[in-house]
Amino acid sequence: MDGEKLFATSCGWCHQDGGRAAGRGPKLAGSDRTDEYLLNRIRVGKEGAMPAFAGSFSEPQLRAIVAYIRSLKDTHP
Ligand code: HEC
Repeated sequence: MDGEKLFATSCGWCHQDGGRAAGRGPKLAGSDRTDEYLLNRIRVGKEGAMPAFAGSFSEPQLRAIVAYIRSLKDTHP
């Protein structure tokens, strides 16, 4: 399961630089949110801002994406 690839394909055009920088969506690197918060947000999205991905990804794929977000180094201020 390649969280980085899944992220690049489905999330990267809003969460810039692989989630390391803010773009259309916020920076995700260094997030102090809980895993449950991240998982829930990816599943349900946000009305008018971010699509819901519950139907697009399996549970292991969702976990892989969260693991990828956690692996990001917070390099941008
Ligand atoms: C169409 C643009 C878009 C796409 C595609 C998108 N997002 Fe988002 N995302 C946003 C926006 C905008 C927000 C902020 C919404 C708000 O809370 O106001 C957001 C918020 C988030 C948050 C919450 C951050 C926080 O701390 O509140 C997470 C986690 C997240 N996105 C992950 C993902 C992942 C993972 C994907 C791919 C599966 C993805 N997003 C795809 C636009 C997008």
